[in-house]
Amino acid sequence: MLSEKLTKAINKQMNYELFSGHVYVAMASWCAENDLPGFAHFFLVQEQEERFHAMKFFNFLLEMEERPILKGMPDPDNEYVSLVDVFEKALEHEKGVTARIYSLMDIATDEKEYRTMSMLNWFIDEQREEEDTFSGMLATVRRVEGHGNQIYHLDKELATRTFTPPAE
Ligand SMILES: [Fe+2]
Repeated sequence: MLSEKLTKAINKQMNYELFSGHVYVAMASWCAENDLPGFAHFFLVQEQEERFHAMKFFNFLLEMEERPILKGMPDPDNEYVSLVDVFEKALEHEKGVTARIYSLMDIATDEKEYRTMSMLNWFIDEQREEEDTFSGMLATVRRVEGHGNQIYHLDKELATRTFTPPAE
């Protein structure tokens, strides 16, 4: 069992992870529309990561004998002005996710809910990696912006990204 406050907060985060997936599918669509199939693939793989994150919260709630509650979600942004804009927004989104994970950790810490704290430690490490991935990608797309040939090669490279469920 968990407190009502923590159950609600974890549920909110589970739904936000699903929303993150929604945001990345919208980014994939924009990339596909702009003849960047490799970038589109990159974001679709990212959506698989987000679903994995959501299900981690889902399974944690079940283990704690609490009920995951699915909610509707707002519309994601579908329009972007450039690839740089896409990655700026993706990085901004991940920073927001990190802030949410930290707030969850604050609640778990206040309640001395050690199992939740342990589960959240995994997410804190994961968010460091996510921000690292997106800030690296943003630096790369800023460097190649306007160089069609380099974008073409980067797009080919990104087409090979695969989703590997992270080790527990
Ligand atoms: Fe996530």
